[in-house]
Amino acid sequence: MILRSQLIGCGSYLPARLVTNAELAEKVETSDEWIVERSGIRQRFIAAEGEKTSDLATAAANRALEAAGISGSAVDLLIVATATPDHTFPATATRVQHRIGMKHGAAFDIQAVCSGFIYALSIADNFIKSGQVQTALVIGAETFSRILDWKDRTTCVLFGDGAGAVVLRANRCKGTSQDRGILSTHLHSDGQHHDLLYVDGGPSSGQTVGFLRMEGREVFRHAVINLAAVVGEALAANDLSASDIDWVVPHQANRRIIEGTAKKLGFPLERMVVTVERHANTSAASIPLALTEAVTDGRIKPGQLVLLEAMGGGFTWGSALVRM
Ligand SMILES: CC(C)(COP(=O)(O)OP(=O)(O)OC[C@H]1O[C@@H](n2cnc3c(N)ncnc32)[C@H](O)[C@@H]1OP(=O)(O)O)[C@@H](O)C(=O)NCCC(=O)NCCS
Repeated sequence: MILRSQLIGCGSYLPARLVTNAELAEKVETSDEWIVERSGIRQRFIAAEGEKTSDLATAAANRALEAAGISGSAVDLLIVATATPDHTFPATATRVQHRIGMKHGAAFDIQAVCSGFIYALSIADNFIKSGQVQTALVIGAETFSRILDWKDRTTCVLFGDGAGAVVLRANRCKGTSQDRGILSTHLHSDGQHHDLLYVDGGPSSGQTVGFLRMEGREVFRHAVINLAAVVGEALAANDLSASDIDWVVPHQANRRIIEGTAKKLGFPLERMVVTVERHANTSAASIPLALTEAVTDGRIKPGQLVLLEAMGGGFTWGSALVRM
């Protein structure tokens, strides 16, 4: 018998304020047509003034706990993946811990930008597989609107705010591919591409956090290559082919990246969960937001095989294969 991390509930939260492309076109030299054609994005949600990443994270966490049918006090490990924490310290995760009524165990943040949720899931999975914790809450939460240069049309049209969360619980099983839980995770990073996607400023580089800077075309090129590679790696490690996968839930950065990856791997687009047109790129929140949507509307069913994949600043990239 082995321990596997079973996903027993998920939940998400989007801020109330919806911002359309047309509204952005009033502020910067852009158009709905350009944004839709280049990225697939039609709208995004933006946190209210004073609404912090921990607020979004707590709302998503409470919904995930409700879906799992457990209370916050049952959680042994809480990880928040975010590149937009409330403060430099303490970790946003500790604020969420307090607010969901979790009084034991450990809570910390991890930072891998848009790959953050996959990184956090992988860490939680290893804690569960080693027997160190029984129940983990993994959250991706971001307020990228706070780090966007709203005068830079090449970046400000692409991102949005939001949060998503999943609850994992140890499932003692035989360890066959049919047993529910996380079958594999694969993580990668390559620090040489720092300058293609970063935020200037920050505690050790300047007094204040700056703005997101991106060489979009270069990031795009690396994303399609790295994502195809990491999906291929997950399939090979599990002795599977693309046709064995019921759903792919990709990081939602750009519809063209999702389509490019699907084409490269021979996945029909109908089996990719796509939310980028409504959520834009919510960084670490994008996968759990999309996953929650597809679980809630009944597309993703218990027992199905779901592949999660992401790529982000660093660069970082990774995958997780889950038997739901
Ligand atoms: C950003 C991105 C949408 C741009 O699309 P693109 O086809 O590469 O477009 P380019 O950057 O080559 O820009 C083409 C032109 O549109 C212009 N442009 C850029 N943003 C614009 C906007 N919002 N509205 C109108 N025109 C815009 C550029 O200035 C450029 O004009 P020029 O040719 O006169 O210099 C695309 O590169 C992308 O999605 N990259 C990946 C980004 C990403 O996913 N990042 C997160 C990873 S986690």
